[in-house]
Amino acid sequence: MDNRKLQELFNEMSIEEKIGQLFQVTGAVYEEEAVISGPIKELGINERDIYLAGSVLGTMGAKKTKQIQKKYMEKHPHHIPLLFMLDIINGYKTVYQIPLGQGAAFEPELARKCASMAAREAAADGLHVTFSPMADLVRDARWGRVMEATGEDVYLNSVYARAMVEGYQGEDLSDKETLAACVKHFAGYGAAEAGRDYNTVELSERTLRDFYLPAYESGIQAGAELVMTSFNTIDGIPATINKKLMREVLRKEMGFDGVLISDFGAIGETITHGVSEDRADAARRALEAGVDIDMMSGVYPQTLYQLLKEKKIELEMIEECAWRVLKMKNKLGLFENPYKGADEDLAEKQILCQEHKELAETMATKSFVLLENKNNILPLSKGDKVLFAGPYVNRQEMLGAWSFTGDISDTITIQQAAEKKMKNYEVCFCQGCPILPKEMKLDGFVNYKEEEFGEKEIEKMLTEAESKAKQADVVVLALGEHFLQSGEATSRAMIEIPENQMKLLERIEKINPNIVVVLFNGRPLDIRKIKQRAKAILEVWIPGTMGGNAIVDMLVGNNTPSGKLPMSFPYCVGQIPIHYDELNTGRVHVQGRDKDRYVSKYLDVQNKPLYTFGYGLTYTNFRISEPVLSKNSMRTGERIIASVKVKNCGERSGVETLQLYIHDVAASVARPKKQLKGFQKIELQPQEEQEISFVISEEILRFTREDGVFSSEEGEFEVFIGNSSEEERRAKFVLKSE
Ligand code: BGC
Repeated sequence: MDNRKLQELFNEMSIEEKIGQLFQVTGAVYEEEAVISGPIKELGINERDIYLAGSVLGTMGAKKTKQIQKKYMEKHPHHIPLLFMLDIINGYKTVYQIPLGQGAAFEPELARKCASMAAREAAADGLHVTFSPMADLVRDARWGRVMEATGEDVYLNSVYARAMVEGYQGEDLSDKETLAACVKHFAGYGAAEAGRDYNTVELSERTLRDFYLPAYESGIQAGAELVMTSFNTIDGIPATINKKLMREVLRKEMGFDGVLISDFGAIGETITHGVSEDRADAARRALEAGVDIDMMSGVYPQTLYQLLKEKKIELEMIEECAWRVLKMKNKLGLFENPYKGADEDLAEKQILCQEHKELAETMATKSFVLLENKNNILPLSKGDKVLFAGPYVNRQEMLGAWSFTGDISDTITIQQAAEKKMKNYEVCFCQGCPILPKEMKLDGFVNYKEEEFGEKEIEKMLTEAESKAKQADVVVLALGEHFLQSGEATSRAMIEIPENQMKLLERIEKINPNIVVVLFNGRPLDIRKIKQRAKAILEVWIPGTMGGNAIVDMLVGNNTPSGKLPMSFPYCVGQIPIHYDELNTGRVHVQGRDKDRYVSKYLDVQNKPLYTFGYGLTYTNFRISEPVLSKNSMRTGERIIASVKVKNCGERSGVETLQLYIHDVAASVARPKKQLKGFQKIELQPQEEQEISFVISEEILRFTREDGVFSSEEGEFEVFIGNSSEEERRAKFVLKSE
């Protein structure tokens, strides 16, 4: 519809209709014989409201969404279509690696392809909007939602946020195979104090601007249609009603002109925060902050009309929000085709098609990080007797906490894959132990029940594993977190694998020390004890539908590991928050000089994480030369080329990820020890050597200076190029003023 027509339609709409665009309901209210009850009733939404509501949360299926759309539009005074929204986080029916694992692939292009695959499947099933990407920077592994992020680094997060938005939205939003993307959670949600979900966020404005905001901004610059507010307070004010954050930073500075949606119930929660006085006050504040859609708190439908009558809000404020929602519906092409991509036949064809499964498998493969490989125990040697033990050996729940759209019966387990792919080995399998200790129930998760075992059965499982381990050359232990131990509202103060699984590891180690641990988890864990006991550790995160295939191909060497950690694995919880791009203190601890007293260190543990950002082994060895710069000084507008020679010194081909880090030696504010500024992946055959170059320009040296201006400062810079953030060899250059 052209803009003039849209404007005409808008002018014809009643105030109630305009308010309707600003809230959403669940699809259940439109089903035959639906009565308004349960949570929707509690929100104060009545029969009339539901045919004015602008959007629906959590309904899917081509047939169902089409029926709802038809019925709704018939009853809506101006026949304006509904928007169908859902969290499609790591795939729709073809579920791929969780975002943290995607970050480990260091391949934003692949994330783009995955996002566009998810959009294809979901759009065919009647959806219009996904609440993804989550661009929250994360430094605290206690926070369960790190699984939905791409890690601790501002640059990595920014390139991924952009790629995902572009992947979902494609070139044209009205295209049948696209979804509108929603960058969330604005802002700083990942910095919840003590890693406890929804908790207060305390960030200096500089840290917020230089580390936390850029990834959101990058998703916005990529054209994200929506932004979601975060649950937390920031500077004492709930983000959802934080005018400075939304009006000044998001709208003015970042130029975001799309739809701002609250998080689930967040407008109402501003009362519990102790800032809004009541629901009407909460609505007024959210509207003043420019929140266009109230996600499921019912505050807007319940109070806006009255507020307007009482002249506590201006009509223009409502119109501004409703207009944005309408504009988005128009961009999605809903006025021309209210069903957009919804198509049962197409859904049938697209969903879980071969191409999608292959992509999910590629993403899983590229995301795996080889943390240890003593005596090159991996890849497994042909002919070996391999025991696969552990709760993940034949477990289909490897889709992650957001994958309610996926079906675990489509998942390939390790056992299924090994039986097919390991004909040249002698393989056997056993569970070894349950996934969780007997007494641990994941309460609070509806509709989920883990199989229960008695003491005797558990002991039997352990002894079976022990006796099989005796016969084996290698034991692959598939261990890890339960998939419901990470995700929303799953903060953990102790981040180890469940203790009953540790017991399995300890007992097997006594019998057979040739242990390879395949680790499933949604967050960095404290794996000190696993490191001591296992010869190899392959980090597979929560790999998705094709996880089993990808894992087995990696273990036998059909593929080679190339993932790098997107988030540091702490040595222990006491180090958290820990991230590689920390600032120097005035009293730096020098590694190895533990007797130095008045320096920044712990008395009981090392400063270093167990595994740092950017780290990950391969099945071969790469030698990287010292970095060389094309010149030692530059002025604004000029460029320096930084290069290294990389040689594969091993006997297998392999992929290495070269990472460029820069340190600003002296600036008006302290700068990180080093910061990622670029990366490149190369594949080299045995003995092959290649030169890899990065371009350094003044733009990548900018930061929020003492005077608040975002700019670079002249002076000395150090350049590191290595295969992890631990690289210490450096070259130097000077940035000169004009
Ligand atoms: C989460 C959001 C999500 C929303 C809708 C909230 O609880 O914080 O990330 O998009 O629910 O499902």
